[in-house]
Amino acid sequence: MTSVTVREIPVDHLTSVEADAELKALAEEIRAHDKRYHGQDAPIISDGDYDVLRKRNQDIEFRFPLSVRPDSPSKTVGAPAASGFKKIKHAKPMLSLGNVFNDVELQDFVDGIKRFLKDFENDPSLDLELVAEPKIDGLSISLRYEHGKLVKAATRGDGVVGEDVTANARMVTDIPQSLLHGGLGGVPDILEVRGEVYMSKPAFFALNKRQETAGAKPFANPRNAAAGSLRQLDSTITQSRPLNFFAYAWGQVSDERWLTHGDFIKLLKTWGFSVNPMTKVCAGVDEALTQYAHIGDQRAQLDYDIDGVVYKVNRLDWQQRLGFVSRAPRWAIAHKFPAEKAETVLNEISIQVGRTGVLTPVAELEPITVGGVVVSRATLHNADYILDKDIRVGDRVRIQRAGDVIPQVIEVIDDGQHSTRPVYTFPKTCPVCDSHVLREDGEAATRCTGGLVCAAQAHERLKHFVARNAFDIDGLGGKHVVAFFDDGLIKTPGDIFRISSDDLAGREGWKDKSIQNLLVAIDAKRTTDMPRFVFALGIRHVGQATARLLAKQYANMDNLRQAMHDARVIGSEALEELLSIDGIGKAMADDLVQFFEESHNVEVLEDLLSSIDVEAFEAPSTEGSPVAGKTVVFTGTLETMSRGEAKAKAEALGAKVSGSVSKKTDIVIVGPGAGAKEKKARELGLKVVSEQEWLILIEGL
Ligand code: IVH
Repeated sequence: MTSVTVREIPVDHLTSVEADAELKALAEEIRAHDKRYHGQDAPIISDGDYDVLRKRNQDIEFRFPLSVRPDSPSKTVGAPAASGFKKIKHAKPMLSLGNVFNDVELQDFVDGIKRFLKDFENDPSLDLELVAEPKIDGLSISLRYEHGKLVKAATRGDGVVGEDVTANARMVTDIPQSLLHGGLGGVPDILEVRGEVYMSKPAFFALNKRQETAGAKPFANPRNAAAGSLRQLDSTITQSRPLNFFAYAWGQVSDERWLTHGDFIKLLKTWGFSVNPMTKVCAGVDEALTQYAHIGDQRAQLDYDIDGVVYKVNRLDWQQRLGFVSRAPRWAIAHKFPAEKAETVLNEISIQVGRTGVLTPVAELEPITVGGVVVSRATLHNADYILDKDIRVGDRVRIQRAGDVIPQVIEVIDDGQHSTRPVYTFPKTCPVCDSHVLREDGEAATRCTGGLVCAAQAHERLKHFVARNAFDIDGLGGKHVVAFFDDGLIKTPGDIFRISSDDLAGREGWKDKSIQNLLVAIDAKRTTDMPRFVFALGIRHVGQATARLLAKQYANMDNLRQAMHDARVIGSEALEELLSIDGIGKAMADDLVQFFEESHNVEVLEDLLSSIDVEAFEAPSTEGSPVAGKTVVFTGTLETMSRGEAKAKAEALGAKVSGSVSKKTDIVIVGPGAGAKEKKARELGLKVVSEQEWLILIEGL
């Protein structure tokens, strides 16, 4: 890589003659790089240097608008890079938030925090300060500053790995390129600031107007428009679409010197970030709810979309102790605004067949705008839902939509004709494969019995397999696997790993380059981690969190398979172990055991394992922990901490916390009131310790 000519004269000092000359040179230079990059795939400068050239061109044009050349690079749209964005692993994961929908749920959430922390039991006069902030409806981004300069920007992605959108982030007005000295003796050397990129409503409407004039598809809402604009491979497109940014959190920081979230928000301002003006430190739940009402009142007048309020525990020492449950912090929660409702006509009921064969009835509606989004379909959940609400084709219905949730039909509005319409009858056969359908006793779901022969199930299973949180193969989306399945190129997930360039050659939309890229992307996934793999299998009810729990408990696929096989015997130790995992109940255990028993699943699994490697699960480093790998049980009342905190701490130290005592238990921690479990532990001759002894054991860790 060569480096670019440094252009020394600051833009502010250029004369118009110099500007003209430089714009001409820049146009030529950038065009030459574009050609090498897109046409020949042989760039000679780094992306960063290339961005510097484009930025310089842009700055000069901004100052000398009359000098903008007809062949200016700012007017050309380069072909997108075939490989898309680079991936960036977040130094600290980007989390999501749990939700509450009303005052009572918020109070429960706060009560839960107080129980967890225990401090409040001993000192009822303590306040739990909450910071209330609007929940901005945009997309989150992580900005990395080193020595005060913006060096990287990444989207959230799946929370662990995001996309490198640095060049585009530089086009966002409120994202500072370099920070002010600010409070706290200056900016920490490494500072990752997180927040929301959004598009204002006026900018959104203007953009859609331009899209329409240009014959392009308009965006459904400002959030989609913001996401579409930030994720442009050509940053000049991003530049032409005004985006804004509010900062509200941090990731990695070299020197975390603030003690409360409120203080951090103040510091953000001094460093040059824009923070939402409705952010407020509240003394407790009541004040937080008042702020919620206040923000709700402002909502319609704001020139950007918000979909609720986020509350965060103000004290960071408490945030630290509260920690996380799977992907969401225990110290923050989103309070969503109530769902938006509308009335329309139900034209038809169609049936969707899902990955596990469940038939879901869908309302095909007369299109209607709800909360700024056009809705033409809504879920009817299952046969009982339709029956209970007596929903009939042709009825006038009320629908609601809340945030990202699929819109639902909530009730029928009698238009005087309802009773004249025929009652809906649920199909007796699968609309896709014609196999008969079955509804088991006590289950709400009706299922297709077609299994393998049902194309709908196969489609959904394959789509799930390649989904973002599952195998996530670059360039191989749901649409592709469905098309490959329909053409007979793949039948099962394992077939994906046998696709050859001959299979793809000559297919519409596939060129040598994209075929090569896909094969490389598939190869890159021949090694994967256990939580992803287990999730990708698509076992009923097994989401990412459960997949992780299983990986943690069983460490590798061999153990997991053996354990699931052994657990089919009621009363077996294996089943007890499975049920002792906090978060796995009887129904889920059934699904798991059944999955690993079914011969077709075993075939698919073995086929997959023959072409890929699933890494054994490694618990986060707990070096030096005396309890790593040990199974512990807490029983009785704990005095210095809640059960939840005790469990979280033990797990952070690499221990497995189980709810029941067995031969496999290593340590039982007993408090006052311990009963049967302590007795059993003593009978089995296990190590039994008091809470104090436990604390000494893990002291300093
Ligand atoms: S805090 C650990 N604060 O909401 C806390 N998130 O549902 C992580 N969001 O992914 C997020 N406004 O994209 C936080 N004031 C705010 C927010 C906010 C919008 C988004 C963000 C996040 C999502 C979670």
